[in-house]
Amino acid sequence: MIQQLGILDRLTELADPTRGRILCALHDQELTVAELQAVLQLPQSTVSRHLKVLGRGGWVTSRTHGASHRYRLRLGGTTGDASRLWEMVHAEVAASREAQLDNERLGQVLAARRHRSREFFSSEAGKWDHVRAEVFGHRYELQALLGFLDSRWVVGDLGCGAGQLSLAIAPFVERVIAVDESPEMLEAARLRLAETPNVECRHGELELLPVSEAELDAAFVVLVLPYVADPGRVLAEAARALQAGGRLLLLDLQVHDRIEYEETMGHVWMGFHANRILDWLTGAGLIDARYVPLPGSQSDKGPGLFIATARKPG
Ligand SMILES: C[S@@+](CC[C@H](N)C(=O)[O-])C[C@H]1O[C@@H](n2cnc3c(N)ncnc32)[C@H](O)[C@@H]1O
Repeated sequence: MIQQLGILDRLTELADPTRGRILCALHDQELTVAELQAVLQLPQSTVSRHLKVLGRGGWVTSRTHGASHRYRLRLGGTTGDASRLWEMVHAEVAASREAQLDNERLGQVLAARRHRSREFFSSEAGKWDHVRAEVFGHRYELQALLGFLDSRWVVGDLGCGAGQLSLAIAPFVERVIAVDESPEMLEAARLRLAETPNVECRHGELELLPVSEAELDAAFVVLVLPYVADPGRVLAEAARALQAGGRLLLLDLQVHDRIEYEETMGHVWMGFHANRILDWLTGAGLIDARYVPLPGSQSDKGPGLFIATARKPG
């Protein structure tokens, strides 16, 4: 707890030359005790003792980083008088021979720190793909893109299946309306989304969406079109449900030759060419339509995917 101290107490705290040197070293960066020891060439007990005094007086603050603490100057937390006092003391201490030597050693300490991270990347450059996937997983940077969703949006997850996408979107938007015609899929979605109050599951067909006109700011139709007899009609319904300026995003299969999907999954389309999708989007009254094939990865077993986007005029 930082005490409210008078100017005389503050003078006492700064009167010690070592404390002045510590504050100089912490002026532009945070340092650990070990780094301060290296900069000041003082034993750990001396550095820690002075840091304690400076911490109690509110001159420094610290954060935990693994097993160590990183300290930094806390001028924002001091009073105006204290700031002015430090300005005067700083000018004097910084000009001293000791502080100049400290500064040289500080440069070496910071260079050694940078060297450690550069060394990591120079030795790991070829392995970084593997390391990032192992430490963070394969999809984190794609999940980060959800942060671009507008927090005021009502989003439709049309053909929501078991609700994976709704669950991913929900934290980033105001509300999700998840629609599916399969009672079993919708039940699985309800279970998955039981703790996600801003998702509403609605039973219904995409050809006759249970969504009012202009109720949605954005709509996702993910891996659904191969199942529907008339995708153009589904996209026209999605367009009707969008606000003026609302966005539609499709993710689906590029044209492929997996005839077995008809038997195993009930597909009635073997993927989609760009032209066909763009025609349907335009036919639905949408503009700025585009179709982008996604690069596949070696571990993907299915056909290539594409993303298509478009916008309702207005
Ligand atoms: C392959 S799943 C994809 C589910 C989800 N979008 C996902 O990415 O996990 C396709 C879903 O679309 C639903 N579906 C297919 N045709 C539909 C239609 N005409 N109306 C409403 N839902 C439909 C199915 O019930 C199924 O849940």
